[in-house]
Amino acid sequence: MIFAILSDIHGNMEALEAVFKHAERHPIDRFLCLGDIVGYGANPKECLNRIKSFEDIVCAGNHDHAVTELTDTSYFNPYARKAVHWTISQLDEEDIAYINSLPYIYEEDTFYTVHANLAKPELWGYIFDDFDASTNFFIMKKNICFIGHSHVPLAFEKKEDIIKPHYGAEKILIDENCKYIVNVGSVGQPRDGDPRASYCIMDTEAKTIVWHRVIYDVAKAQKKIINAGLPSFLADRLAMGR
Ligand SMILES: [Fe+2]
Repeated sequence: MIFAILSDIHGNMEALEAVFKHAERHPIDRFLCLGDIVGYGANPKECLNRIKSFEDIVCAGNHDHAVTELTDTSYFNPYARKAVHWTISQLDEEDIAYINSLPYIYEEDTFYTVHANLAKPELWGYIFDDFDASTNFFIMKKNICFIGHSHVPLAFEKKEDIIKPHYGAEKILIDENCKYIVNVGSVGQPRDGDPRASYCIMDTEAKTIVWHRVIYDVAKAQKKIINAGLPSFLADRLAMGR
């Protein structure tokens, strides 16, 4: 089975379409989405419709819940908060109902998908380092947990009691004696200094997880953000990958 795992699209249709086009080169059986479909970018409704169209597993992210007022946004920076208000104005009742139907966690035999972490997914805590990872590993009964949220592609590998981070990881060979937390990076707003869209493909036969980076039309996405009256910082950061 071959899975494509996407996260943090953030209303960036140019990046999302480029990722789907890139994924066409691979015999993908199923698409999984880890949330934050909306927020920041200028095409929240279009991204929601595109994600809905692949009819597979979609988890909720904090920006999705921000626009349906299921989560507190007091910790959001002013740019994010402004984007939340603008995004609400673009969505209808059906969109809100769809977002509110999304689960926090999805699980299969060998893996979980969640936006932020398994311990308290509704609190949206980040997994940045070995300590954060250890809490998540503690409750993992399955081999792999796919996450997003920080917009930084990376992985943590746990073998016996040793946790090894893989910053800037490009490929993992899955060892069934290990556990993995895999951050697939962000489709629509990468923050690792590389502006290309990020997503992962897992091949369960070959036992591989590969990160892919995809060039997309950043200038077009930026122009839409400016034309929508969203903060220019949200356009600027796309080119920086920050
Ligand atoms: Fe996000």
